[in-house]
Amino acid sequence: MSRLIVVSNRTPGRGPAAGGLAVALRKTLAARDGFWFGWSGKLSDTPSEEAHFDDIDGLTIAQIDLTREDHHAYYAGFSNSILWPSFHLRLDLATIEGHWYEGYRAVNRQFARALLPLLQPDDIIWVHDYHLIPLANELRNLGARNRIGFYLHIPFPTTDALYAIPHHNELMRDLSRYDVVGMQANRDVTAFTEFADHQSPSSLSGNPLRSVDFTRTETAAFPIGSDPDAFARLAVTPAATKMVKRVERSLRDQKLILGVDRLDYSKGLPQRIEAYEKLLANDTRFRRAVHMMQVAPPSRDTIKEYQETSDTLDAICGRVMGRFSEPDWQPLTYVKRAYGQPSLAGLYRLARVGLVTPLRDGMNLVAHEFVASQDPANPGVLILSRFAGAAEIFPEAIQVNPFDTDETAEALRMALDMPLDERIARWTALMEASRRHSVDNWAASFLARLSPDTSGGVGVNRDMLYLASTA
Ligand code: G6P
Repeated sequence: MSRLIVVSNRTPGRGPAAGGLAVALRKTLAARDGFWFGWSGKLSDTPSEEAHFDDIDGLTIAQIDLTREDHHAYYAGFSNSILWPSFHLRLDLATIEGHWYEGYRAVNRQFARALLPLLQPDDIIWVHDYHLIPLANELRNLGARNRIGFYLHIPFPTTDALYAIPHHNELMRDLSRYDVVGMQANRDVTAFTEFADHQSPSSLSGNPLRSVDFTRTETAAFPIGSDPDAFARLAVTPAATKMVKRVERSLRDQKLILGVDRLDYSKGLPQRIEAYEKLLANDTRFRRAVHMMQVAPPSRDTIKEYQETSDTLDAICGRVMGRFSEPDWQPLTYVKRAYGQPSLAGLYRLARVGLVTPLRDGMNLVAHEFVASQDPANPGVLILSRFAGAAEIFPEAIQVNPFDTDETAEALRMALDMPLDERIARWTALMEASRRHSVDNWAASFLARLSPDTSGGVGVNRDMLYLASTA
């Protein structure tokens, strides 16, 4: 079987904190041979030309260092101040500094130069996420003829938002150099197809008035998942139970409403706290009877828009605390720090309601992990944003428009009042969907499309577009 080379900005670290993606791809890499390639996390005075290899818990990792200047333009700049907000339809939060594109391109070129000498002709290469859109093109310019796939972990933007991105035509041409482009949801494939079919190239971009030819690229939805059975086991380990006991003691008989998100403006955190505020304001029987906990580890905090989101959330949480707290009862716990997966699994299991209400999200694995952690005999209720990719596979969640805080408040009331038989019926269906869309199935279905032995030739096959996610 051909070797597999996984490429992403960050590479998996040591220890048990590895996320679902690292765990799944670790298993896949162990079965196929190959290595993981990415940034070392180190900044140097000169860009490294050669990768250094490391063995991390049995996984071979090849890493390069970046210069501080390149890293700033590539990561905080183009990737997270232009692509991230635009792909999440937050052009109001984008900082359009076109010059960051040079650093973004330079880092992708550096990745390609360092990776090329490590490649064998039969290797298949799987590139992850928006930091590395140009990588296949840069590798092909250096002569690589391998099968190369790309997976976008965040939503694909509408055509208008795409046009707001400097050099969007070059980025789309970069995507057309991949053999397979995978997206989270049918919604993303539809947006991509809309662009591919109706593109109107900008006369200001590199290649004036030439549209991009996508006929050699197969595009499909491959919704990512978690490892639900492993999470279910984790939720009853001593480490998880320790957290359950700790929080149970302080909750007494109150029902727990739980949110867990990176502190990011795409997660809809202020709207979520406002919805909770409305629940308490509208229905006094919930005061003293419920408690909300929001866990929000800080993220990308060198970027102004993230600092502002953090300040906004501080203010809203303070307002709700001041408005409803009593000397012997607090409505809300706001925890601005990260927890390991066992503690989170314990919290998910304890929660009566999992509140997952991003304004827009690629998939949202918290939704999967919340479902997997539940006690089958007494499961909690998932409230899910209809703008998360997970909404396509979890119709049995209570789905809400996260911008409509009245609707979310009403969903909270429904969830808190939901009888046990309905909770069990909904959870059973959600758990089945989570198992069907496990991260192992996700990796296998993407690699089946990318592997030379199973690819049925080239060309966009429109009939294929929806198969992967509905299978
Ligand atoms: C999102 C992206 C991932 C990224 C993660 C953490 O989930 O889709 O690609 O790894 O956020 O972001 P960070 O900027 O901390 O690497």
